[in-house]
Formats: sequence, C-alpha cells, structure tokens
Amino acid sequence: MDISATQPVRIDGKAFASRMTTRLGTEVVEVITNTGHVPGLAVVLVGDDAASQVYVRSKHRATLTAGMRSFEYRLPSDSPETSLLKLISDLNADPAVNGILVQLPLPQHLDPAVVIEAIDPAKDVDGFHEINAGRLATGQDALVPCTPLGCLMLLQDHLGDLSGLHAVVVGRSNIVGKPMAQLLLGANCTVTLAHSRSRDLPSICRTADILVAAVGRPEMIRGDWIQPGATVIAVGINRVSHGNQTRLVGDVAFDETGHVAAVTPVPGGVGPMTIACLLQNTLTAFRRQNGITA
Ligand code: GUN
Repeated sequence: MDISATQPVRIDGKAFASRMTTRLGTEVVEVITNTGHVPGLAVVLVGDDAASQVYVRSKHRATLTAGMRSFEYRLPSDSPETSLLKLISDLNADPAVNGILVQLPLPQHLDPAVVIEAIDPAKDVDGFHEINAGRLATGQDALVPCTPLGCLMLLQDHLGDLSGLHAVVVGRSNIVGKPMAQLLLGANCTVTLAHSRSRDLPSICRTADILVAAVGRPEMIRGDWIQPGATVIAVGINRVSHGNQTRLVGDVAFDETGHVAAVTPVPGGVGPMTIACLLQNTLTAFRRQNGITA
C-alpha cells in the first residue's frame, strides 16, 4: 500500500490556540470588571537553560497579551533549595498571584517533587501537584496539566463526542501520558496507556482510534503502526540535526501518515495549545480563588 499518496486533515493547533487566547482576553476583561482584580501568573526560572528561557519568554508575552499580570522570577542555577522554597512560599501568600509555574527541568541539585509539593494546589496552574493529580484521577475539579488538556480540546473539537473510542497513549510521564489517560477516560474512551516497555507496541498502536504519542523520540511511531481512520496527536517536539542544520520533528513519522484521518503537525499542533491552556488554567485558578463559578 502506498501510504504517502494522500494527505490527512491537519489539526491546526496554532489557529485553535489563537481563537482560545482571544476568547480568554474577553473573559479576563469580564473578571476584572466584576472583581476589580487582575489575574496574575508568576513564572519561576532557575538557571539558564536555553530552551526554558524561550518557553518562559513566550509565556510572559502570552500572559500580557491576554490582559493578565505576569511576574517573572529568575534565580541563579546554583540557588539552594531553601531560596526557591522561600520564593514559592511568598508567592503562595501573595494575593496578586493566582497561578505559579516553576519551569522544568530544574538544575540537578533541586528535587522537582519537593518543589512542586511546595506550591499551593489552588495556584498550581501546571496541575503537577499530587492533590491536583489525585483530584483528576478521582473525577473532581482539578487544575489539569496544560499539554494533555490542550490535546483533549483538539480531539473534542475535531471528533466531537469521544465516547467508546479506543485511545492509545504512548508515554507514561506525570506531565503528559498519565494525565492524558485520565482525561480520555473521563471523556468515556477505552484507554490503553503504553510505554517503552510495552510488548509489541506497533500492534497496540494499530488498535487505536485515537493515538497520542508523547515519547520524546523523533519519528518513533511509524505510519504502518497506525490504522486508516485514526486521529493522531503528536505531542513530543524533537530537534534533529540534518548536516549542519537542525529541524523540529514529532514522535510520529509525519510523512508516513497519509492514510490516517487527521494528525497534528510539529510544529504548530499541540505546542501552541500548551500556552493557551496555561492562560486558561490561570483564569480558572483566579475564578476559584475569587468564588466565581463560571
Ligand atoms: N517544561 C517543559 N514543559 C513544561 C511545562 O508544561 N511546565 C513546566 N513547569 N515546565 C515545563
């Protein structure tokens, strides 16, 4: 079978995120009018990781564009844990700060579990705190990790009701794979959570109506692992070298997906949704902290 002959629908995360950010801007004006307070997001960056600096700058810009306050804190890479925990404690107590995000990865000497645990769960706009993970797993209101939340929104926008569909999630990280599986379960999918140790991964993937690839391995998932008619969400963004140039590729071999129903491109698929969902979570956190039930 020539699986490169046709092209699937491209799920345009960039356009969806842009519409979402515009809507959020309107909602931010509304809550400011109703409460007299401006939603605020604090982002903490420890060290000088180049990719993290780019992400933090994008988050700062997007927060301001949505009409919220953005607080940026940069700590040196050798900061002791006590300094970071003191900053988080101050931000927890600051009424102008509704959301707190500590950019990962942290320098080696800092334990992300300890740092995440220190964030007030009500301000944990990453949704990484165990209270939020537990609330998500038990079907209660939670702040939900931004990347899987963005994936779910794209899927529901594209497919409508997901009930009864078989979703295969490849990758079991706390940040993407596990919460993605919980969200799909909450949307009434039958969910398989596969990972690097799964036996016969290609066969498992071939059973998917929805395939979410969150492995961080360039083009690991090949076209012939995907059944015709499947909808494919490529989460990982990998930079690969081509001679003396580099380019971004996803976890799925995009050129081999001509037979599938729909696929997210890399870049321009899931990536832009993550920041839009961060703004959404900040607004959700603000509303809950102000007793607004919208
Ligand atoms: N580093 C890469 N992605 C993320 C994210 O979604 N949240 C945080 N805190 N750090 C990240």
